[in-house]
Amino acid sequence: MAASEFEWNISPEKRIKAWGFNRSFPGPILRAKKGDTLVVKVLNNLPEATAIHWHGIRLVSSMDGTSDVQKPIAPGEEFTYKFTVPDAGTFWYHSHYNETEQMEKGMYGGLIVEDETDPIVDHDRILMFDDLKLTVDHNFTKGGALARWMERHDGRQGDTLLVNGKEHFRICMNAGQLERWRIVNAASARYLRFYLGGRPFKVIASDGGLLETPKTVTEALITPGERVEVLAGPFKEGEVFFVESLAYNRRTFAKTKRQRFAAVHVDEPKPSRAYIPERMRNIKPLATKDAPVTRKIKFSVGASLKRGMDFLVNDALHHHDKPVFVGELQVWEISNTSLMDHPFHLHGFFFQVLEMNGVAPEESAWKDTINLPPRSKVKIAWIPDNRPGKWMYHCHILEHHDAGMMAHFEVIDPNSGIVETASPSCMAHS
Ligand code: C2O
Ligand code: CU
Ligand code: CU
Repeated sequence: MAASEFEWNISPEKRIKAWGFNRSFPGPILRAKKGDTLVVKVLNNLPEATAIHWHGIRLVSSMDGTSDVQKPIAPGEEFTYKFTVPDAGTFWYHSHYNETEQMEKGMYGGLIVEDETDPIVDHDRILMFDDLKLTVDHNFTKGGALARWMERHDGRQGDTLLVNGKEHFRICMNAGQLERWRIVNAASARYLRFYLGGRPFKVIASDGGLLETPKTVTEALITPGERVEVLAGPFKEGEVFFVESLAYNRRTFAKTKRQRFAAVHVDEPKPSRAYIPERMRNIKPLATKDAPVTRKIKFSVGASLKRGMDFLVNDALHHHDKPVFVGELQVWEISNTSLMDHPFHLHGFFFQVLEMNGVAPEESAWKDTINLPPRSKVKIAWIPDNRPGKWMYHCHILEHHDAGMMAHFEVIDPNSGIVETASPSCMAHS
């Protein structure tokens, strides 16, 4: 994949100077089979350095794309990412370098990992939601001092709403059919409260693949970084409706409202061959709700004389957290003492949510991103499998991550005595 600047039409009359892969916004959809080894050579033709993170993939530390594990790819240089994809599901790749600008400009794409045991649907598509903040002549902007100050607090939200790089995106489907929509929230900060005008749909998967059973709902909250997969349909011929986001108040300065992202047009009927099993998967719980907490983490917002506001983890900017050891169950209690929402993202590992404000979630799921509502406490469990090295967790509101709401930590294999370092040749798979 070649990263470069290119012209991109977000609508017939609006052209932007995007940054992305293979001159496409979003970049190419990568499809693999569970267990495949992916080899992606990234050539950087941008005027600045970049690095690619494979969000949600349980890969080796050296391929995680952060500045902790690799030297950013300088302009004119290339780097080959090589890793296996052990889990089926919807993932995505995105720049992990100067993200607030590079991701805003389009440096991301979908990564789908399929499995033979996937439910059978009539059509499978990925829908990547995003928003841009553009000037009247369609240029990217950060705005003036006040806008910047607000953006540091709220994260960047714009009024140009995109699905797969297009404004007023149109989904055409056939009546009577059932489609699998893999939804990715690729926005810097915007929360998506996915809504089909009140039509019920089934949620079948989250970050780490299928749920145990489908769940019928009329809306789904998808925070930046998160994935939700839904079954849409069957609908009737001639139906036209919108894919919307309902207002979600994450306590920003900017007011939220209900907004349209795409339109669905239902064409002539076609027979369906869809088959969705009642039980799609078994997810074994890692721990019970009252498992003893092994680590407490605090996300907070503090006043700063210099910067106005600080976004902190355990009261620190770019916190350095204690290491964890391979095979040792982690039960983390993550509290958000601030008055706004933060989507917590853990790199490289899936966790299970044991409880949110004392209540166990209705369904079991593998997650890599979870929303922390204001003044909340969430308890998660995960096990560091044998992939020692440097990892991180952070708020996936890109401006908060950038402001320091993140932590580095290491996974250590106590039996090796050696901690894997940044060497890209070090490809020992567990
Ligand atoms: Cu998708 Cu470090 O994040
Ligand atoms: Cu990630
Ligand atoms: Cu945040």
